[in-house]
Amino acid sequence: MQSVFDLTGKVAIITGGSRGIGKAIAHAFARAGAAIVIAGRTREPLEGAAEELRMTGADAMAVPTHCGRPEQIDRLIEAAVGAYGRVDILVNNAATSPHFGPLVEATDDLWRKTLEVNLLGYFHAARRAAEAMTEDGGKIINVSSIAAAEPLPGLGVYGVTKAAVMALTRTLALELGRRNIQVNALAPGLIRTSFSRALWDDERIAETALAKIPARRFGEVEDLVGAALLLAAPASDYMTGVVLTVDGGYSVS
Ligand SMILES: NC(=O)c1ccc[n+]([C@@H]2O[C@H](COP(=O)([O-])OP(=O)(O)OC[C@H]3O[C@@H](n4cnc5c(N)ncnc54)[C@H](OP(=O)(O)O)[C@@H]3O)[C@@H](O)[C@H]2O)c1
Repeated sequence: MQSVFDLTGKVAIITGGSRGIGKAIAHAFARAGAAIVIAGRTREPLEGAAEELRMTGADAMAVPTHCGRPEQIDRLIEAAVGAYGRVDILVNNAATSPHFGPLVEATDDLWRKTLEVNLLGYFHAARRAAEAMTEDGGKIINVSSIAAAEPLPGLGVYGVTKAAVMALTRTLALELGRRNIQVNALAPGLIRTSFSRALWDDERIAETALAKIPARRFGEVEDLVGAALLLAAPASDYMTGVVLTVDGGYSVS
C-alpha cells in the first residue's frame, strides 16, 4: 500500500528554496519522491541547492525568481510546467522583512516592498499554481509565522503581512476546495536561519526569547519538515484552511 506521506510522481515548487527552511522542505519532499522546482533571487546559491538535491538522486531544477515580481512568478510556474508537465504542490516560503523598528516609523516604500513579496507574491503564486493544477487537485502551503498572532518587537510590518497570509490561506481554502486543492499555513516559531540571526545571535535577545519557549531551544529547519510533508502529502487530503504552528510551545507560554 502507498504511504500517505508518499509524493512519488508529484511536482513541488518551493520559493526561497536555496537555504533555510525552504531548502530543508525541498530535501524532505525530494526524499518523499517529488520532483522539485526551487526559486530564489540569487542564481548561484539557487543552482547550488538544486545540484545538491540532484546529488541525492532527486529530480530538481532552479528557476531564479524575485517573488515580488508577478511576471517572474508567471515564468516560474511556466518553467515547472514546461519541465515536468504539471504542478501539484506550491510552498510559498520566500519572504522579506526590510523594516526593523516601530511600526509607526515604517515608510510607505518599506511597506510596499514587504507586501509585494510576503502577500502579493504569495497570492500571485497561489493563483498561478492553482491554474496549473489538474483535476487531481493539489496542495498550497503558505509559510506564515508566530509573528502573525503575536506582535514581535520591531517586526510589526512583517507581522501584519504574515497575519494577512493567514486570511489569504483561509479564503483560498474556501474557494479552491471544490477543485480538491487544499490550502494550509505553516507558522514557524524562532528557527535558527540567517533570516532570524538577529534574534538568536545576540546573547541578551536570545536569552529573553528562550525564556518564552517551553522547549528551551530555538528550532532547527529540520523541525519544520514533518509538518510541511504532512501538508503536502495525501495524509492531509481532508485538511484545509488550517495553520500548523511549529514553535516549541512559544505561542502557549
Ligand atoms: N527563521 C525563522 O525564525 C522564521 C520564523 C517564522 C517564519 N519564518 C518564515 O519562514 C520562511 C523562510 O525563512 P528562512 O528563515 O528560511 O529564511 P532564509 O534562511 O533567509 O531563506 C530565505 C529564502 O528566501 C529567498 N528569498 C528572499 N527574498 C526573496 C524574494 N523576494 N524572492 C524570491 N526569493 C526570496 C532567499 O534567497 P535569495 O535571497 O537568493 O532570494 C532564500 O532562499 C519565511 O517566510 C519566513 O517569514 C521564519
